[in-house]
Amino acid sequence: MPARILPFTPADLALAAAALRRGEVVGMPTETVYGLAGLAFDEQALARIFATKDRPTFDPLIVHVARPEHSQSAIDFDWLTFLVGAKLVESAQLGPLAIERIHALSRLWPGPLTLVLPKQPAVPDLATSGLATVAIRAPRHPAAQALLRAVGQPLAAPSANRFGRLSPTSAADVQAELGDRIDMIVDGGCCEIGLESTVVHVAGNGDVMLLRPGAVTRETIESITGAQVRTPAITVSANSPVAQLSPGLLVSHYAPSKPLYLLPASFHQWKQGVPEPVRKLLDQARGVGLLFYSGSDQELASWLTENADQLAGVSCFPAALSVGGDPAEGARNLFRTLRSLDAHPQVELILAEPVPDETGLGYAIADRLRRAGRKIDIF
Ligand code: TXA
Ligand code: MG
Repeated sequence: MPARILPFTPADLALAAAALRRGEVVGMPTETVYGLAGLAFDEQALARIFATKDRPTFDPLIVHVARPEHSQSAIDFDWLTFLVGAKLVESAQLGPLAIERIHALSRLWPGPLTLVLPKQPAVPDLATSGLATVAIRAPRHPAAQALLRAVGQPLAAPSANRFGRLSPTSAADVQAELGDRIDMIVDGGCCEIGLESTVVHVAGNGDVMLLRPGAVTRETIESITGAQVRTPAITVSANSPVAQLSPGLLVSHYAPSKPLYLLPASFHQWKQGVPEPVRKLLDQARGVGLLFYSGSDQELASWLTENADQLAGVSCFPAALSVGGDPAEGARNLFRTLRSLDAHPQVELILAEPVPDETGLGYAIADRLRRAGRKIDIF
């Protein structure tokens, strides 16, 4: 039986909340991507999350929280005190600079930001993969907030995809990924952001490390904390400090099932001739998906006409992340576009052009592409 897709109504949310309270797992919309939610303090529910996703238990989960109803009118809610009271965060190891920076960052909640902070013993080791820290996020999607309030407890929720696959950005994507393994998906529409949250580690001495780029950019984090943010390279070795801080960052993620190759330059360069390594790939495939960073339907059609001679014999299926190069639009469409090229019956491999500007959100888009694909110059 496929999962039931529940509309976002009070009665359906109550149904989903009751299932969660019984220890079941439910597909939950958030503004970033859809999550697979289960009770954060219930080991059986946590085990169910890992089993449903085929996720190895060395990859820790994010715990989702909502502000209590009665605090809604307070302008400057003290999240840290709330998280300590909720038996999630241990503040004893946090020095004054760390506390100041956590206060500054948590002003972005609810939103697409996850903070990695020292955990209390009450947080099950399964949620944190045995780490001394716990990842916490207050999502801003109204359905996620309503569900968290209805359950009355924090919910652990990784992205609702099978392990290593593309994150889902609609209820239909969750159905395609996990529909045969779960009973309910709350439908909150298409995700506003479309990339997973920014993950930030704040150390006891106040040092700030960006573990996963997202819609809250490094530039924003630096300006609101005054910290110089360190960013780990994504190819980290198993004994690097990053691997110890965030084991999930080691593995290749977000991959379509068809091979995805990252081009060193834009498709517009092909006018001067298709580069030799690309030629070899084109010769192997009958149908190729072309992931443009930007372009209107009309521009993509003219590109095909202009390059018709060199592409003779290859069926090309171009798709653009954004019409005019807006990074927010590009982020929103990234996983959806990759998913549709992946599902296209004639597409055998996907080529992606580089993100032209890797500052701000462009860095997060480029990060996901690097994890999903391989660079073409190794061939
Ligand atoms: O936007 C999101 O963050 C979505 C929605 C559902 O909230 N969730 C999500 O979860 O992307 P997931 O499990 O796919 O990615 C969580 C990542 C892990 O791979 C891991 O790298 C990092 O967060 N993480 C979790 N707990 C951590 C910890 N204690 N220390 C360091 N990194 C942690
Ligand atoms: Mg994920």
